[in-house]
Amino acid sequence: MSLQGKHILLGVSGGIAAYKSAELIRLLVKHGAQVRVVMTHSATQFITPLTLATLSQHPVGLDGEDLDEPMRHIDWARWADVVLLAPATAQRIALMAHGFASDLLSTLCLAAECPVVVCPAMNQAMWSNPATQANVARLEGYGVAIIGPEAGEQACGEIGAGRLLTLTEIVVQLTAHLNSAEQCLAGKKVMITAGPTIEAIDPVRFLSNHSSGKMGYALAQAAYSAGAEVTLVSGPVAMSAPAGVTLVSVHSAEQMFNAVQASVQQMDIFIGCAAVADYRPESVQSQKIKKSPEVMTIQLTPTIDILASLNDLPTKPFAVGFAAETQNIKDYALGKLEAKKCDLIMANHVGIEGTGFGSDDNAVTVLGHDLQIELPKQSKTMLARAMISIIADTYKQRKL
Ligand SMILES: Cc1cc2nc3c(=O)[nH]c(=O)nc-3n(C[C@H](O)[C@H](O)[C@H](O)COP(=O)(O)O)c2cc1C
Repeated sequence: MSLQGKHILLGVSGGIAAYKSAELIRLLVKHGAQVRVVMTHSATQFITPLTLATLSQHPVGLDGEDLDEPMRHIDWARWADVVLLAPATAQRIALMAHGFASDLLSTLCLAAECPVVVCPAMNQAMWSNPATQANVARLEGYGVAIIGPEAGEQACGEIGAGRLLTLTEIVVQLTAHLNSAEQCLAGKKVMITAGPTIEAIDPVRFLSNHSSGKMGYALAQAAYSAGAEVTLVSGPVAMSAPAGVTLVSVHSAEQMFNAVQASVQQMDIFIGCAAVADYRPESVQSQKIKKSPEVMTIQLTPTIDILASLNDLPTKPFAVGFAAETQNIKDYALGKLEAKKCDLIMANHVGIEGTGFGSDDNAVTVLGHDLQIELPKQSKTMLARAMISIIADTYKQRKL
C-alpha cells in the first residue's frame, strides 16, 4: 500500500476523534505521504495545533488572517493531491454539502479540484439523523468519497454507527480511492468470475450453493471504475451487471470453465470470485426423477478446477483466487496460494455473523507471497475498492 509522494491536505474538525488525527498523520507519513494540516477553530479545543504541526513537520492552517500567505485557501488546495477530512463532524459535512465558505477549511474544500475524501465521526443518532444522511448523499452526488463510519461503542457511551473508521482502514480506503481516481487499471483487461454455479440433476433439480454474486459484482464495478476493461463471467444471480462491464452468463461449472478458457489468455488479470461447484452429478437424468420411498444415491464427480487450469495456459494472467474457509483460514488459504500457483488469495471469513454469502458486508485477509493485509468487516463495495487497489499495486510490482 503506497501513498508515496502524495500531498495530503488533512482537515481536522472538532469531534472527540480529533485526538486520533495525530496518529493518522504518523501513519500517512509512514506510507510516504507529505501532510499539511488545516484545523477548524473547534478542533483546536480537542488537540493542539503544536502537536499536529510537529508531526506533519509543517505549520498548521488555522482560521484568521495570515498576511504572509493571504491566498492560503487556494494555494493549499492546489498543493494537495487529495483533501482528507478526518474526523469530519456533522457540522463540517453540512457546511460542505451546502457549499459554505465560512472558514479556512470549508473555503479550501470548495476551492479543491483534487479528490476529496471525508471520514465522518459522530454520535450514532447524529449520524443516522435524516439531515446528516441527506447531506452525505448530497456530497456523494458531488463526487466526494465517504469512508466509514464504523459501528461500535462510542465515546459518549452509546453503541451504533458513527465511529471514525480505524486508522489503518482509512489508509487502505484512501489509497484505494486515489488508485481508482488515477485509473490504476487503465488499459488492463480483467476477467472476474462471480456467483454460484448450478449443476443439473434432472430437468427441474440442481445442486448449487448460497453465493449471491454480490462480492464479484462489486469487484467488477470497482475494476471498471479503476479504468479496466472488465469481463464478468457469472452464474445465475438476482442482479444486473454494472454498466460498462461485459457480462457472460453461464449456469454450470463446465460452462464457466469454457467461458473463461474462451478469452482468459487475452486478460491481464483473472479474479476467481465465483463459488464454483466442486462436484456435479455424474449423469444428468433426461426426465424428471420420480418420487419414490427408496433411498436415492446420486453419484458425484469432480468438476474442472478453473483457477488451477490457468497454469496449463502458455501465458497465464495475474491470478487472484478466493478461499472461503470456516477454520484455520490463513493456513488453508496459503495452501491454496501455493497449490494453485496464484499471485494473491482473498481469504474469506465464512461464519462471521453478518458477512459472507448473501450479506452486504464481508471481511477478508489478503494473502500474497510476501504480503498479508487484513480488511475488516465492511460493505462489499468498499471491500471491493480496497481489493482492486491491492491487486493493481501487486500486479504493477510483479511487472516491474
Ligand atoms: C465534547 C464534545 C465532543 C463533540 N464530538 C463531536 C463529534 O464526535 N462529532 C461531531 O460531529 N460533533 C461533535 N461535537 C460538536 C462539534 O464540536 C460542533 O458541532 C462544532 O461546531 C463542530 O465544528 P467544526 O466542524 O467547525 O469543527 C462535539 C462537541 C463537544 C463539546
